[in-house]
This record gives sequence, structure tokens and C-alpha cells, in this order.
Amino acid sequence: MSAKAEPVYCLGEQTLPVPMSLFAHNRKRLCKALKGNSDVSEKSIVLLQGGDEISQDSTDVDLIFRQESYFQWCFGVTEPGCYGVIDIDSGKATLFMPKLPDSYKVWLGEIYSLGHFKAKYAVEDVQYTADVAEILKAASPSTLLTLRGLNTDSGKMTKEAVFDGISGFKVNNTLLHKEITALRVIKSAQELEVLRYVSKVSSEAHMELMRRIRPGWMEYQAESLFKHHVYLHGGCRHVAYTCIGATGENCAILHYGHAGAPNDKKINNGDMCLFDMGGEYYCYASDITCSYPVNGKFTDDQKKIYNAVLKASRAVHKALKPGVSWVDMHLLADRVQLEELVKMGLIHGDVEQMMKVRLGSLFMPHGLGHLMGHDVHDVGGYLEGTPERRTEPGLRSLRTARTMEEGMVLTVEPGIYFNWAVMAEAFDNPDWSCFLNREAIERFQNFGGVRIEDDVAITADGMEMLTCVPRDVEEIEKLMEEGRTKYEKSLELGSLVPAK
Ligand code: GLY
Ligand code: MN
Ligand code: MN
Repeated sequence: MSAKAEPVYCLGEQTLPVPMSLFAHNRKRLCKALKGNSDVSEKSIVLLQGGDEISQDSTDVDLIFRQESYFQWCFGVTEPGCYGVIDIDSGKATLFMPKLPDSYKVWLGEIYSLGHFKAKYAVEDVQYTADVAEILKAASPSTLLTLRGLNTDSGKMTKEAVFDGISGFKVNNTLLHKEITALRVIKSAQELEVLRYVSKVSSEAHMELMRRIRPGWMEYQAESLFKHHVYLHGGCRHVAYTCIGATGENCAILHYGHAGAPNDKKINNGDMCLFDMGGEYYCYASDITCSYPVNGKFTDDQKKIYNAVLKASRAVHKALKPGVSWVDMHLLADRVQLEELVKMGLIHGDVEQMMKVRLGSLFMPHGLGHLMGHDVHDVGGYLEGTPERRTEPGLRSLRTARTMEEGMVLTVEPGIYFNWAVMAEAFDNPDWSCFLNREAIERFQNFGGVRIEDDVAITADGMEMLTCVPRDVEEIEKLMEEGRTKYEKSLELGSLVPAK
């Protein structure tokens, strides 16, 4: 008899199979950490509640479900409405699945048996959610460890498990969050494999966009092409965040693309594009920004600003390794960019003084980058016991101030922006205006900005680049030129607008 193949998540041969042992390994790491915590009493169990289906306002239209990230990290379950339990002493995992009504068969399809889910997720046991109180009672745990903690990016609390009858148990919600979050920060070899994959899929989508984009497109068409590519070729049903399809002066708006500014501008010849888009595969994120001129040829100004950002990015890549401080990496990027802006004649004076007054934050108001994993802005940035958030301009925007460790995955995303609302205020600020060459800067009023964003993994002695897109000006221009040959007509849309 042949050995039974390990269950995997996979969306066809062209996509990455993700083995369920990835989650078994995470659970094992969690049990080990909790056993090593003297505050965790014997016979404690972990209780997590998965995400629920959410409908749009009062309608019956469901948003496409995406699993809650802590639950995903432990179990990799794609269905909503579940609970999961891990017996810390034995490591045994039990999933609780909702018992579905008969009508499900008509509207939503096959109702699978508990055995189906046991095999699908390779857990020791599967039960119905309706029985959670009874089954836990029979197990008589000393304590239920539930998840309660702050997401330092959103300011929201985690979803803490609750069920009818939980008041009959001793519950501790102060121990689990710190342990599991600390583990989520350090990616396992199997997790890195998935992050490599999703970063590659997203890189290829960016490259296809470079080949096909032309002046005259609408920004949302760039977003559409990216999403299509990562789903069609990579099985990414979701993107990891709202696509930023900024062009022209919109490139200065850091999180452009939201409902109030929904990538709805026509792209003019000569515009810079700042496309910050990342696919998500099986709840693993990517976060990549490519900046380039829509017409495929950098002007002198575009090239200079771009190369200043690229120099900062490469300086950080070179310096990254375990033991370095993320704050220092931000300062390094700031310093390189300021030096380049001096060379360009946009600012003048002593760079040391500029660093003291945090002038860098005028051009790069956001942080250098952030942890990334299940969430694009991943958890653990300001975990208890790690360096606190700084208060200075620019540095306070950092989503982490941590010291680098092997297994961390982060984005490196320096940028230079000409946000005119911010710039106008800076001209009135004597601490900053003394460094600014107003006339030279005013030439960039409609420039927008440049961001170069890569995903990297910290290795034992440096970093591994997960993103694979062209970054040198010459490489970008070459790829865009090739695209112009490959796609003589890059977008042929017939009009569906009724003739007048
Ligand atoms: N795409 C959001 C960010 O770069 O952080
Ligand atoms: Mn980012
Ligand atoms: Mn980004």
C-alpha cells in the first residue's frame, strides 16, 4: 500500500502546494513556547476562534471570506465560523466546524463530513462548534488560553474566542497573545517558501504591467491588470491591501487608491507611475512598489529622483543583517536621500544638521518598511519587551523599531515625495526652510513621488531578496521597450457606451 500523500493547499499545478505540516509546525512551536512559560499552568489549552463571514451592510451579499490571521497561522483553515483548540501538553489539535443546515446543499454545495476536514487539515480531531462547551468540559482543562492583544498598526484588539458556556471555565487572556505574536514574527522555512512564491507571482504581475501600460490608460486599468495576473497565474484571489495605482501628482499620496481616490485618473504621457500592489496567497502577503514613467523613458529629473531612492534602498539592503536596528536603517535611507537631494540642488546645507531636525521626513513621511507575513503590516512591531515607538517626525511612522533577527520578513520601501500641502507648510517652517531651495523644489510641484518597495527576509548573515523586478533605470526601460514590441496594441477596449 502506498503511503498517503500529505494534504496540501493548492490551486492547480501552476500554484504552490502548501503542506498542512506548515501549520502543525507552527502549533508545535507554540506549544513549546507555552510550556516554557512558567505562568502557564499544566493542562492548559489554547482556544482560538476563526473569522466569520461578513455581509455588506444589511444586504445578503457576503464579502469574500478571508481567514483571521492568528487562526490561519495555527490551522490554515479556509472556512469561516470555526474554533480551534490545542492541548499544550500533548500538542493535540481539535478543529470545531459549524454544522451546516440542509439548505446549504442547495445554495452552497456539498456538506462535508468531519472526517473530510480531519484529512484536509491533518489535525487530530474535528468536532462541531455546537459541541465546543461539552467537549471542552469532558477534557477538563485547567485554563483556556484565549487571544487578547492590540494590533499596533490598526489600534484594534484581536478577536478573542467566546462561546456559550465559556463562563464555566477558567480563562486567561493575557498570556497567549505575546507568545504567538513573537512566533509569527519569525518565519519558518515553510512559511518563507510561501512568501517567496507570492512575492514572485506579484513581481511577475508588476513586470507584465510595465510591458503593457501606456499613456491614456486609466489608473484602475493598471490595478485591474495586476489583480488579473496574480489570480490567473498565481491563484491569488485576494490582494494583500488596496492597490495603489497612483500616477502623476497622485504618487505623492501615500495610500492613494482608497474609496475616496479610487485610482480613477487618466494617465498622461510623461506621468510617473507609482504602483504599490501585492497579491495574497493562502493568507500570505506580498507588498511591492514599482515606480517608472508611463511612457517607458525616464526624464532627467525622474531619473535623478528615482536613482536617489534606489541608492537608499540598496544601502539598506547592504546593511541589513541580524543585530541591526530598524530605526538605524530608516536613518540610513534618510541620510542617503538627503545627500542625493543636496547633489541635485533641491536642498543645501549640512546633512548632519538636516538629520537633527528630521528634514528627511519632509520627503519621506512614512517609515522605511514593516514586518510582513499573514498581514501586510504584520504583527509584533511593538511587542512588549521590544524597542518602543520613537516620537520624532518620520521615525514615529515606523511600524517597528526592532532589532533584526534571522527569519524576520520585512519590506524595504524608501521614497521621495513632493506632497505640496506638506511642502507649502515646510516653506513656512524656519527649521526646515533654511535648507530648502524653493525655486528648485517648485519645479517638482506636480512630480508626485517615487517609492521603491521590496520584500526581504533576514538571513543568518544578511538578507534574501524575495522581490524580483527590474530596478535599474536601464533595466526598466528595456523591459518597457520590449513590452512595446510584444504588445503593439496593449489594450483594445470596445466601447460599451451607447452611441448618441
Ligand atoms: N502598501 C502599503 C505599504 O506599503 O505599507
Ligand atoms: Mn509596505
Ligand atoms: Mn506597499
